Amino acid sequence: MAGHGEAQPMTSGRCGPLTGVAEVPGDKSISHRALILGAMAVGETRITGLLEGQDVLDTGKAMQAFGATVERSGPGEWSVRGVGVGGFREPADVIDCGNSGTGARLIMGSMATTPITATYTGDASLRKRPMGRVTDPLALFGARAFGRAGGRLPMTVVGAADPVPVRYALPVASAQVKSAVLLAGLNTPGETVVIEREPTRDHSEQMLRGFGAELVVETGPEGHVITLVGRPELRPQTVAVPRDPSSAAFPVCAALIVEGSDIRVPGVSQNLTRNGLFLTLVEMGALIDFENPREEGGEPVADLRVRFSPGMKGIEVPPERAPSMIDEYPILAVVAAFAEGRMVMRGVKELRVKESDRIDAMARGLEACGVRVDEDADTLIVHGMGPGGVPGGAVAKTHLDHRIAMSFLVAGMASRAEIGVDDGSPIMTSFPIFEGLMNGLGARVRRG
Ligand code: S3P
Repeated sequence: MAGHGEAQPMTSGRCGPLTGVAEVPGDKSISHRALILGAMAVGETRITGLLEGQDVLDTGKAMQAFGATVERSGPGEWSVRGVGVGGFREPADVIDCGNSGTGARLIMGSMATTPITATYTGDASLRKRPMGRVTDPLALFGARAFGRAGGRLPMTVVGAADPVPVRYALPVASAQVKSAVLLAGLNTPGETVVIEREPTRDHSEQMLRGFGAELVVETGPEGHVITLVGRPELRPQTVAVPRDPSSAAFPVCAALIVEGSDIRVPGVSQNLTRNGLFLTLVEMGALIDFENPREEGGEPVADLRVRFSPGMKGIEVPPERAPSMIDEYPILAVVAAFAEGRMVMRGVKELRVKESDRIDAMARGLEACGVRVDEDADTLIVHGMGPGGVPGGAVAKTHLDHRIAMSFLVAGMASRAEIGVDDGSPIMTSFPIFEGLMNGLGARVRRG
């Protein structure tokens, strides 16, 4: 698992035009949810296109520890024989969620209303991340959590024997917290209500409905009011996982900044809760065509044609757009460094509690590469150096964060001197084929 093995330094050098087709793997968020909901249904759920990244594999192992049978039958093809809502058994050992905040938080939600006890841990990155944001609402159902100071892992969660339904207004715009509460609501009698002021990714709502739960979303002055009726019998499903737009972001942004590039990225989600990066890039002047719009695996998708875009300009990203592109700010900061003018990203303090403090990791790494950056608690500003204007010639620290590692390797493809990362091993958590895929397009990413 990432962070448990040796650090893997990687380097990326300036390359010729990127060309060809970038087929990125399955969506990480949807993959986690397919395994968890499959485990909570009665019968066999079949999944195709599952992301076989370490984060998702760790969630699969966890579902087995709770009593489900999880089997692989081919590349991306998995089956889950579920134990039903309330059917989880107590795991015999500690649940290791590796690098995955999504895994840890959603799994905690899924068992919090069943009278079993589970202890969670993760790698050095996950052990620093706040879990109080999920254990606070889970306590309202009657679950108890005993963790390290500040609500950190390792942590033991004792599920509620007689859960009571909850009405919970999210204090942070977080799909993970929303999902944890909804999953806890499954084994709770009555109606569980979650209110979100700003829309966050809606995969849990869509999939809960798909598995047969009764779930209604109303939009009012408070925002989205999501009501779930507890104790449904979830019916097993066939889930076709669409490609991950957060992974597509890397070849897309690489093609925008590498001179002469012209690539295609098929089947990229256009889900409005995930497409903030693409909106922002187009506003900057990126040359992206959205072709062949259609539906795949219940998600709106399009095939992207992406060309080198020397005319891109920094803009102010509307802060309310943050939840729809929260994982894409690191790679956007790289694109901004190769654009003209100032790129202002406000309302991004959530980046400080991701796999790393992503504001700090991007600011320090870009500065080391010769780019001027300003930051405060909730803001990142990148002063663009124009196409081909980034000096590079540095090694960025990735702090066990896959997206920081991939972002700096993309930066190296267009900077004057090579850019290295101290540890590329976390890339395995979300985009295990990154190196081969990028080099297949013409990049020069190497180990060491
Ligand atoms: C995710 C939600 C986001 C995102 C994470 C995946 C999910 O986190 O950063 O990579 O699958 O629900 P928050 O909802 O906490 O912002």
